[in-house]
Amino acid sequence: MKNPVYQHFMIENDVKLKLIDEKNLNLLIKLQNETIQELENDDLYRFTSFEKYMEILNKQSLVIGLFLKQELIAFGTLLRPNCFEEELLNSKIFNNIDKNTIYYYKAVVVKKTYRGKKLQIFFNEYFEDFVRKNGGIYIVLNVHPDNQYSIKNFEASGFIHYLDLVMENRYPRKAYYKKILP
Ligand SMILES: CC(C)(COP(=O)(O)OP(=O)(O)OC[C@H]1O[C@@H](n2cnc3c(N)ncnc32)[C@H](O)[C@@H]1OP(=O)(O)O)[C@@H](O)C(=O)NCCC(=O)NCCS
Repeated sequence: MKNPVYQHFMIENDVKLKLIDEKNLNLLIKLQNETIQELENDDLYRFTSFEKYMEILNKQSLVIGLFLKQELIAFGTLLRPNCFEEELLNSKIFNNIDKNTIYYYKAVVVKKTYRGKKLQIFFNEYFEDFVRKNGGIYIVLNVHPDNQYSIKNFEASGFIHYLDLVMENRYPRKAYYKKILP
């Protein structure tokens, strides 16, 4: 069942979903930069460069944006299997699992003015549908232990905490997974 809070907001405001590609990637980078600048703690969000995003797009990963008229108000990034850090799979849960079935939910950002409308849950649900339709079995992700809002939304969507790690020797992270197919 789709979350009624984001549904109501998106229908009322005629919010449109669009794929992010090389032509509108600059809008994503701008929103990412604004978001990082306003964070109280720099470690909460791992910056991804324009060049890295071009690589992500070239590998046919899924980068989607929500647009209110011409304004990008939120985006989400889902990486295809085998396109992310192996350390996230460092758990016995994945020992006998085909790595080609594990997707990585890399990022979700909602512009400050549009927070509190459960748009994060929209991305959680959209990516889950995408993975299911593409025959994926797991989604993994990681989040800063102090990112209470994000953790609350991931847990509400059924993600389970399985690992604590430090990424790039700097960023403390809680890793979560969700099993999409039985
Ligand atoms: C984490 C994030 C994606 C949540 O997005 P969201 O869709 O707005 O989530 P919610 O609708 O659940 O709202 C979260 C909280 O934001 C708060 N909020 C509401 N309006 C707000 C506003 N104008 N400004 C700031 N916070 C606001 C509310 O307190 C809400 O908590 P509640 O559920 O107790 O009401 C968003 O806060 C964000 O982009 N943060 C910065 C980037 C980030 O941390 N991304 C996640 C990395 S894993």
